[in-house]
Amino acid sequence: MVEKRLPFTKELLNEIIKKYPTPFHIYDEKALRENTRKLIRAFSWAPAFKEYFAVKANPNPHLLKILREEGLGADCSSLPELILAEKVGMSGDEIMLTSNDTPAIEFQKARELGATINLDDFSHIDYLDKYAGIPEMVCFRYNPGPLREGGNAIIGNPEESKYGLTRKQLLDAYRLMSARGVKRFGLHTMIISNELDPDYFIETANMMFDLVIEIHRTLDIKVEFVNFGGGIGIAYRPEEEPVDINYLSKGIQTAYETKIVANGLDPLKIAMECGRVITGPYGYLVATVLHKKEIYKNYIGLDACMANLMRPALYGAYHHITVVGKENWPLGYIYDVTGSLCENNDKFAINRKLPMIDIGDVLVIHDTGAHGHAMGFNYNGKLRSAELLLKPDDTVELIRRAETIDDYFATLNF
Ligand SMILES: Cc1ncc(COP(=O)(O)O)c(C=O)c1O
Repeated sequence: MVEKRLPFTKELLNEIIKKYPTPFHIYDEKALRENTRKLIRAFSWAPAFKEYFAVKANPNPHLLKILREEGLGADCSSLPELILAEKVGMSGDEIMLTSNDTPAIEFQKARELGATINLDDFSHIDYLDKYAGIPEMVCFRYNPGPLREGGNAIIGNPEESKYGLTRKQLLDAYRLMSARGVKRFGLHTMIISNELDPDYFIETANMMFDLVIEIHRTLDIKVEFVNFGGGIGIAYRPEEEPVDINYLSKGIQTAYETKIVANGLDPLKIAMECGRVITGPYGYLVATVLHKKEIYKNYIGLDACMANLMRPALYGAYHHITVVGKENWPLGYIYDVTGSLCENNDKFAINRKLPMIDIGDVLVIHDTGAHGHAMGFNYNGKLRSAELLLKPDDTVELIRRAETIDDYFATLNF
């Protein structure tokens, strides 16, 4: 069970809203830092551990700067994300490029920054060579396909997913790169998303360590680092249990000792590229009730819509809702909480038990710190909201202003 609390009082929130009108996302810096430190502490047993924050989860440079201060790197999947990491001051092995269907310019920028390039396909070897040159260190993304069950609506079953190389291709790729003189290698996988079972990640670690051993045995290549990808889930629902990071880390440590150390392959660097578990629980979408509508069902219409948070519409995802000031009221009403898009799935909650809601009430939608604002769009002429940072001393900084009508028309030559 997680208690879905707010990091601000009603009074403080009202002050914030006076200055920054709803809707907006607000991020809790103190909790963000504490959580990051906890992750790094949990992996202190590893000879080297690096979490590359998946920038796609929340591409705000102010947050990336904070995460960098805590020792995190950046996992980038596009040219703008690489530039964002660069703007924060990152370079070299602080950055990984994990993209797919990659255009030449991304490889070129990654090479310019000295980032570690993670190749998604065998054919990308020659493409990279042609357009950017082969770097000293190369990493490949493994897709176990039928060798591994799992996957879910977000990432798909490994066999159905478009990412990575098959086992045979992977071994051929290391062989080829070794023949071409590459001396430093990484191994990567990402086969699950929003998974709350820590044992799944421990199994993945075992699978990857076995592969490291096989690569060494068959090709005489000593892999330098293994990246387990992201995908650690968060407890969106109050009744869910967050992943026990210490348990997860201990399980990976045991696998490391029995496989990597026992086979003389220590030290092997451990990397991850989580997004959701880093920022997800520490972001909140704050919105105001504009309308109440009673037809066949009861609707609450907000000033936010799925352009601000797409996950419920996209995956039917649950996001907890707090009606500010009514936290202790009985949950005596059933509502659909909607936005204003001309899409019937523009609903933050369906048949949700909530206290009686009035026009003007402020609703806080929880766990929007990852894949929230980042997935925003302009359909129906909706403008993306502001992003705020709640600092440890309770002051608030505007870290992204809300889009304006001028922004909406900025790309038109009319
Ligand atoms: C390659 C890659 N790495 C990392 C992530 C981050 O995943 P999560 O936010 O679930 O940890 C994603 C998410 O889409 C991804 O595609």
